[in-house]
Amino acid sequence: MLVTRRLPKPAMDAITSRCDADVWEDDWAIPRDELLRRVAGKVGAVTLLTEKVDAEFLDAGPDLVIVANYAVGFDNIDVEECTRRGVMATNTPEVLTDTTADTAWALLMATGRRVAEGDRFLRSRQPWIWGPEMMLGQDVHHKTLGIVGFGRIGQAVARRSQGFGMRVIYYDTYRPPPEVEREFGAEYRDLDDLLAEADFISIHVALTPETRHLFGADQFRKMKPTAVIVNTSRGPVIDEPALAEALKAGEIFAAGLDVFEKEPEVHPDLLGLDNAVVIPHLGSATVDTRNAMGLLAAENLVAALEGRRPTTLLNPEVWEQRAARG
Ligand code: DGY
Repeated sequence: MLVTRRLPKPAMDAITSRCDADVWEDDWAIPRDELLRRVAGKVGAVTLLTEKVDAEFLDAGPDLVIVANYAVGFDNIDVEECTRRGVMATNTPEVLTDTTADTAWALLMATGRRVAEGDRFLRSRQPWIWGPEMMLGQDVHHKTLGIVGFGRIGQAVARRSQGFGMRVIYYDTYRPPPEVEREFGAEYRDLDDLLAEADFISIHVALTPETRHLFGADQFRKMKPTAVIVNTSRGPVIDEPALAEALKAGEIFAAGLDVFEKEPEVHPDLLGLDNAVVIPHLGSATVDTRNAMGLLAAENLVAALEGRRPTTLLNPEVWEQRAARG
């Protein structure tokens, strides 16, 4: 078994108690050459979003039965190519939904109310005194929250907004059943209408060719100058240079980013802007959630190797073909 980065202990125990594991022990991502060398002869691999699982990887690991991704997002995996080769692919949905929604809210509050900027200001030890117009932010309560991508995490973000008395509007290519809209009092908008109407926009779409640069100069221009945008999905959904320009020009009020277009790089202009709050892809980064993600990835891996159906299969047709072959 190949494990491309050390996982939290409960997950490592679950793997090593059931199979031999070749673990990349470094804190940095495994270099591509090393990854391709090590996957040779392995029947299973636990991968992170830092590893591309593509035709080259699958060629290097022709014995693979399963690739268990330690993330809900799987834009690093060519699922179609896995399916073509009869390799099961899994991800870790649900266990990180609430934690990621909490992170989106942390960014929303930090940007709207200038928390990170205030902290930096005090640490700069400049003299200050309370003032009527000092560091004014945007109210969050009773404002309009626009959610782009209204799946599990988007809905968890909407649920949290109810305590703030917010109105929820959403855009998605998929319309959830009416009871979901009713639960949050959420109203569908097309993207342009949402951009014009929302005070806070939180992005929760998967990265696909359609969502790459879903937010660029045109979209920022359509937003309110008081609007805040938060991204905890995938960096390339936002055109980062265009965002930096919009923040500099005051086209929007602020941005809270957990993910970056060329991660781990952050556009240098964003680092110089007080109205950008940037954190290093911490969406699911709590002890409990990372343990749960690790256990789910380990369970998926072990299930496939023991001939059981992994619970969170991305390509169930591979399992069905295998089951039909007996
Ligand atoms: C994911 O799961 O997709 C995150 O980005 C890492 O938690």
